[in-house]
Parts: sequence; structure tokens; C-alpha cells
Amino acid sequence: MKSQFAEDTSAWPLRCNKWEPVQIISGDVRQELKEIPENTFHTCITSPPYWGMRDYGHERQIGAEETLPEYVANLVSCFREVRRVLRNDGTFWLNIGNTYTSGGRAWRDKDAKNKGRAMSYRPDTPEGLKPKDLIGVAWMVAMALQSDGWYLRSDIIWHKPNCQPESVKDRVTVSHEYLFMFSKNENYYFDQEAIKEYTADGKGRKNKRTVWAINTEPCKEAHFAVFPRALVRPCILAGSPPGGHILDPFFGSGTVGVVAIETGRNCVGVEAKPEYIEIAKNRINGVTPSLFTSYP
Ligand SMILES: C[S@@+](CC[C@H](N)C(=O)[O-])C[C@H]1O[C@@H](n2cnc3c(N)ncnc32)[C@H](O)[C@@H]1O
Repeated sequence: MKSQFAEDTSAWPLRCNKWEPVQIISGDVRQELKEIPENTFHTCITSPPYWGMRDYGHERQIGAEETLPEYVANLVSCFREVRRVLRNDGTFWLNIGNTYTSGGRAWRDKDAKNKGRAMSYRPDTPEGLKPKDLIGVAWMVAMALQSDGWYLRSDIIWHKPNCQPESVKDRVTVSHEYLFMFSKNENYYFDQEAIKEYTADGKGRKNKRTVWAINTEPCKEAHFAVFPRALVRPCILAGSPPGGHILDPFFGSGTVGVVAIETGRNCVGVEAKPEYIEIAKNRINGVTPSLFTSYP
């Protein structure tokens, strides 16, 4: 079977002239994006590490900054590079959730159900906030990106009907994250028809709405949150034409690459952790290209 991915074996200009279905670049997103020419991708879909939530166990990890402003500034500068490599009619879909302050604990113990949640560090409560406060970090990042020049076009609620139960007794259980849609310029590529929804009576079609109910999808090899494919698919269909070029700068287990192949697009992923690249390669090699994949 022909391999569906190419590894980072040559200089970018060579790779760029020969698009593979998926190209995985192993390294730190802050360095690797600088090697890519401007105006390359139709759309970027990504989920960066959340602040202080997971220990990915590598020195280059974003998300382990000591302070919230450092984390926000790091993401803004990463995504400034994303803006440069996007085509002028490009879009950027950012999945990010809010978190709570730690309440003064310095570490988080192993979580038997979710190994990725064991932490060797835990950031302090940010200045101006109190223990138990909801940190509106998703919106802080969105606002900072808007100030940096992005057009903030939609705040989509990813509603998770099968969300993790929480043992909290004094607030409601979190069952959503955000998917912010940005554009590089005022006018941009957006295929509204490709993602229309059925009307309630099933007889007609209407524009897609801003609340998307999508179950989380387990990935048995990865000990961290992976994208459900159903979340990625509308972003790819609306944000790129068939054969279009997609970027995920925090590739993880490669879900964006999987959906790019399923929908007949090409994808470049950047990932710092070699073990995750192996997971992504295995997943991607098992995908059958098809325009009609349906998800649970
Ligand atoms: C939330 S996960 C992405 C999961 C992905 N959406 C999926 O479906 O599998 C974030 C990823 O960012 C990677 N990462 C963290 N810091 C990085 C950096 N500086 N450069 C490149 N990748 C980084 C982590 O190793 C992790 O795989």
C-alpha cells in the first residue's frame, strides 16, 4: 500500500513543490513554521495545548508557561506565523476551552482514567484571580488574536453530549469548548453550501449554526484529547476547495491529516513529540480516501 504521509526529510521548498496527502514536520512549531513560504495554505485547523492542563513531557511544549500572559503571548506569536503562511483568502479555526484556577496546588496526581492528566507542574493562580475562578482563557486568546490583526468571525460552541462527568458540587459540569473561526482578511474563501444543515422537518437546508453537538471520539493510542473527526470536517469543507492545502501546527495524533485525506485535501502537520508522530503515521496509513465518510 502506498504510504499516505511524507516525513520531514528535505528542505521546505522541495516539499512544497510536491504535495503529499500528508506531510509531518517533526519539531517546534515556533521554528518550523518560519521555514514555510507565505500564502501556502487555504485553511488552518488546530487545537493547541491548554494552559496548565497537560504535561506533554517534552521541553518544547507550549502550555507549561509559568504565567497566563506568557501563554497567551506564545500562542499569539505562533499564530502570527500561521497568518503569514495562510493564503490571503485563508481562514483559521482554533479549538480551545476555558480552565479553572488551581486553588493553590502545585501539582496534579495521576488520573487513573486519563494518564495524560498527570502533571509535574501546575501554574500559580494568575494575578487578579482567585482560587476556583473560571479563567476565560479561550476568550483571552481570541481577543489577543483579534488585536494582533486577525478577523474574528465566529465563536462556535462545541457541545459535547458525552462530556466527562465532574465530581463538583457547587457548579454545573462543563460540556463545551470553543471553536473560533478567524480570517486573514475581510473577504475570504468560505463554502457555505458544503456545510449546510437540514431544517427541523428534514425537507430543506439552512446555513450551519454556531452550536455543534459532537461526541468526543476516543483514540486508544493517545493519552490526550484528540479532535473528533466530525469537528474537523466542516472546517475543512468550508475552508478549502477539493485538493486544497490544510495546516495543523499542533498535529498530535494527526486527526486533521486523517480528515484531509478523507475529504480529498492535502495536509501539513507540525508536532514536537516523536511518539505522537508515530501514532499519527499509523492512523493516517489506515485511512481510505472518500468524500462520503460518516461519523458516529
Ligand atoms: C491538544 S494536542 C493536539 C491534538 C490533535 N488535535 C489531535 O487530534 O490529536 C496538542 C499537541 O501540541 C503538541 N505541542 C506542544 N508544544 C508544541 C510545540 N512547541 N511545537 C509543536 N508541537 C507542540 C503536543 O505535543 C500535542 O501533541
